[in-house]
Amino acid sequence: MKVLVLGSGGREHALVWKLRQSPRISQLYCAPGNGGIAEEAECLPVDLKRLDSIVELGERLRPNLTVVGPELALALGVVDEFTRRGWPIFGPTKAAAQLESSKSFAKEFLQRCHIPTAAYAICDSVEEVREALGHFHAPVVVKADGLAAGKGVVIAKSKEEAMGVAAEMLSGKMVGGAGARVVVEECLEGDELSFLVLSDGERVAPLVAAQDHKRVGDGDSGPNTGGMGAYSTADIVDDQMRDWLVTHIARPVVAGMKAEGAEYKGVLYCGLMMTARGPMVLEFNCRFGDPETQPILMRLESDLLEALEASIEGRVSEGNFKWSADASVCVVMASGGYPGTFEMGKRIAGLESAGKVEGVKVFHAGTSKRDGAYYTSGGRVLGVTARAPELETAVRRAYEACEKISFDGAHYRKDIAARALKK
Ligand code: AMP
Ligand code: GLY
Repeated sequence: MKVLVLGSGGREHALVWKLRQSPRISQLYCAPGNGGIAEEAECLPVDLKRLDSIVELGERLRPNLTVVGPELALALGVVDEFTRRGWPIFGPTKAAAQLESSKSFAKEFLQRCHIPTAAYAICDSVEEVREALGHFHAPVVVKADGLAAGKGVVIAKSKEEAMGVAAEMLSGKMVGGAGARVVVEECLEGDELSFLVLSDGERVAPLVAAQDHKRVGDGDSGPNTGGMGAYSTADIVDDQMRDWLVTHIARPVVAGMKAEGAEYKGVLYCGLMMTARGPMVLEFNCRFGDPETQPILMRLESDLLEALEASIEGRVSEGNFKWSADASVCVVMASGGYPGTFEMGKRIAGLESAGKVEGVKVFHAGTSKRDGAYYTSGGRVLGVTARAPELETAVRRAYEACEKISFDGAHYRKDIAARALKK
């Protein structure tokens, strides 16, 4: 069969890599893809910001399955458009994707469903923010309501800073229209957990959990990024906690969306804070996480295609997945300056020898290939991912591979999974 993956990052490289192992796939396409993906799938041009461009591609290819990587295409309604034409596609509809595309929608939905989340206020003006801040203590979190590619959340140390950030968001200067409405939120403390489930609109099956490292610097310093690395182990959550998260968070979300007429199919990414008061929802994503997908899929031993089809066809069960007990870790190598402004087009050296380190797979995020050489073409450039029976070994292998890779300005965190190793 013919499968199309939409997207161009490390997540999409991991999806392509895993789907290629499926014996039933004869033709694998990725649009637009990147330099590394082009080695494993046929890359085709598309403008993922334009629904008509994606539909045109679908018309041309008529894939038996389309897998959507990034959120924007989902928020634009790519699933609605493909489904209307009878083209099988994995992911939620535009209405269901509001769980990610509107933080105010998600917060009000969580409240209606009595699912634990941080206290919040939804504000449409500077006056409303000033008034709301009276009910919060610093530090306080300010979030743009709409999609902001990881740049829409600021943890403000003081109310003055929160006021300034909110004003800048509301003015449109910071994240454009995404900030026309903001959510002011209580700052939660604890370990973060990325808990993803597969849903068919009714049933859910958990994937193995992972932990992302969102801040740019070691020890969680500096600004938020799209994610600088992630790991997954067999004991990152125990069976009891996993069942609790399914019963008290994932299932109620899927049931609530169905009851409200916006059936949720696809992957539901629950971004959680494990607080002293118990797990609380920080955010939802309506897609696979990046970089979490890289270590998660490294641990998947069963056919990914079967699982994605189960979601579309309404037969999701725990049996959709068989997981390895191994640990896996992904270290993101980024361009100098990221998450701020950065230069691109730097030649990348050492990829081949890095890929030869035992248990390592180097996923490409922002790369392009020219005359047999790879160049940087984005903020997050590579996701150096390793698997091993012990987390310590996986971490050692990932960093051994990172040390073999170089490009002008390259930087990466040296402490991915360090806290888990200390425990
Ligand atoms: P979000 O896009 O909502 O996931 O936010 C991005 C990151 O900001 C999260 O992964 C957390 O690290 C942080 N964050 C978001 N909301 C909160 C909160 N209420 N308290 C503390 N940190 C938060
Ligand atoms: N790693 C966080 C995200 O995918 O949004």
